[in-house]
Amino acid sequence: MRYADLHQRSIADPNGFWMEQAQAIDWARAPSKALFDDNAPLYEWFKDGMVNTCWNALDRHVAAGRGNQVAVIHDSPITHSKRELTYLEMRDRVASLAGALRAKGVQKGDRVIIYMPMVPEALEAMLACARLGAIHSVVFGGFAANELAVRINDAQPKCIIAASCGLEPGRVIHYKPLLDGAIELATHKPDFCVIFQREQEVARLTDGQDVDWHAFQYGVEPADCVPVEGDHPAYVLYTSGTTGQPKGVVRPTAGHLVALHWTMKNIYNVDPGDVFWAASDVGWVVGHSYICYAPLIAGNTTIVFEGKPIGTPDAGTFWRVISEHKVKSFFTAPTAFRAVKREDPKGEFVGKYDLSCLKTVYLAGERADPDTIEWAQEQLKVPVIDHWWQTESGWPIAANPMGVDPLPVKLGSPAVAMPGYDIRVLDDAGQPVGPDTLGAIAIKLPLPPGTLPTLWNAEGRFRKSYLDQFPGFYATGDAGYMDADGYVYIMARTDDVINVAGHRLSTGGMEEVLASHPDVAECAVIGVADDLKGQLPLGFLCLNSGTTRDPSDIAKDCIRLVRDRIGPVAAFKLAVVVDRLPKTRSGKILRATMVAIADGKEFKMPATIDDPAILPEIAQALASLGYPKG
Ligand code: COA
Ligand code: AMP
Repeated sequence: MRYADLHQRSIADPNGFWMEQAQAIDWARAPSKALFDDNAPLYEWFKDGMVNTCWNALDRHVAAGRGNQVAVIHDSPITHSKRELTYLEMRDRVASLAGALRAKGVQKGDRVIIYMPMVPEALEAMLACARLGAIHSVVFGGFAANELAVRINDAQPKCIIAASCGLEPGRVIHYKPLLDGAIELATHKPDFCVIFQREQEVARLTDGQDVDWHAFQYGVEPADCVPVEGDHPAYVLYTSGTTGQPKGVVRPTAGHLVALHWTMKNIYNVDPGDVFWAASDVGWVVGHSYICYAPLIAGNTTIVFEGKPIGTPDAGTFWRVISEHKVKSFFTAPTAFRAVKREDPKGEFVGKYDLSCLKTVYLAGERADPDTIEWAQEQLKVPVIDHWWQTESGWPIAANPMGVDPLPVKLGSPAVAMPGYDIRVLDDAGQPVGPDTLGAIAIKLPLPPGTLPTLWNAEGRFRKSYLDQFPGFYATGDAGYMDADGYVYIMARTDDVINVAGHRLSTGGMEEVLASHPDVAECAVIGVADDLKGQLPLGFLCLNSGTTRDPSDIAKDCIRLVRDRIGPVAAFKLAVVVDRLPKTRSGKILRATMVAIADGKEFKMPATIDDPAILPEIAQALASLGYPKG
């Protein structure tokens, strides 16, 4: 089928289109229709169907005779180990874990926080929750205890499942003390914690709080799949917004199943039995959708990779994994390729491996610069496809439908709208702009199945963040343009979110931490361009009058504070003290002007600036940190 027809049909006849796709899913009770719009502008999909995610990801493949196919490969260059688990093994392990959770009181609708590194047990924990209809919330391992505590308070989990440790190159991440610290900080306390002991660091269990992953499964009855309503939340995943309070993106069960299944063949061009690898982390949405759920729902083999693109042990790791496990479609972030390219610009490692299995590479998570795409195309000799999506969407908003109608690649564009996404570019007044004209990127409601119906316990915030700006549209928070062929170009965020190494971070959240320092009167955090990570956060600090401490000591304190409160993943290493911040006459900090100075870009003096004489002071402060670069 041609892409244009397919997309047109998905918009003109959403019920017909998505009910057809829903046939690929096993239902306990089939839905009567796809779209429920009686509560618009809040929409729901497949609401009156009953379904179970774990059944569709594991049991049905076993029932269909694929039990001996490998479901999950754990490849861990960090621990020098490899392991394979078949669909049958996964089904039995997950049923046993779910049985043990149920025996401790976890049931449909209860929240379970999962704090795990890249081990297959992380997927097992997610799927065990899905089996029971419990709602998981996975927290990325690079966050500090405080961020975990914020999520515990918001999600109010009955149980937390954690590993004893994670492993970063050259250091052990002590998960258990982080977990205990978070529980101490949180006002909500879980009933119990399940600890998966890793041999690299065995944790001391706390009596009355912790149970051992293996021991608590002893003698329990394995759990069957519990069918849930189509709109039952499959999970909540917290993501950065404008403030330090993360947004709990809710993922609805049935739409998630239907949409993810559609993507595996139509976008990623894999068939059941093919090996698919997303080199991300289960803590991010890419990990949820494309390490755990989608490949298993579609009957693929998925890879859980515990390593880095470089240094574990070298810049050939990606190619080794692809070649050894016969990966057909590979998904990573542009940052990862930039890291590999920097170490191995000529691709000498590429030549060491037989990559004939690899058919397509997909990039997402941040803007893919044309240089990186061209380098990858040249080295790998396969199409390199940029595609664009968000935690909120859960699956690609724009992509190149490689499995149904591959379209020409235009460098710098993540290609075209996927089914159900009616992408529009709007001006500040909400009016559509013409081709090639910059504006806010919005999606005409309803969003397709699988996308967020609301924020966890925060419907008001959901409406305010996404629906109120342009009535009848979902505001993506991204700005860009669309060309005459319908290809979108994503250029920047319209809010205070920055993208560091493919990780979404809130500058507002960092400012809240800096402002809590006793010597800091005022502050601003901006994202400056970085060759490797895309952007890096940089903080300006104005000190309280009468502060006698050395400003560089205060800057160092602040760097430590962000690492302790938000976590190493914030990559906050640049801070400088200034006398004043540039502001408009109404007191708004001119962050975009500071970004332009830091990036060495031309800018127009803002007409509303209160005191232009501050800008040279900002330039001087940036110069002391080596900005602009080069
Ligand atoms: N647990 C604990 N700490 C973690 C972590 C985790 N799961 N992941 C990252 N960190 C730490 C890192 O060790 C680093 O700590 P440091 O400041 O002590 O060096 C810090 O968080 C920043 O991490 P990162 O920004 O990822 O930088 P890096 O130098 O470790 O690695 C790259 C650089 C480019 C190799 C790496 O960022 C990468 O592979 N990026 C791809 C991103 C990706 O897959 N994103 C998912 C979206 S698709
Ligand atoms: P996250 O919710 O962490 O997946 O981050 C989503 C944000 O990352 C988007 O809103 C964009 O700002 C950015 N992003 C993701 N993919 C792309 C892409 N292909 N091109 C440009 N920006 C992207």
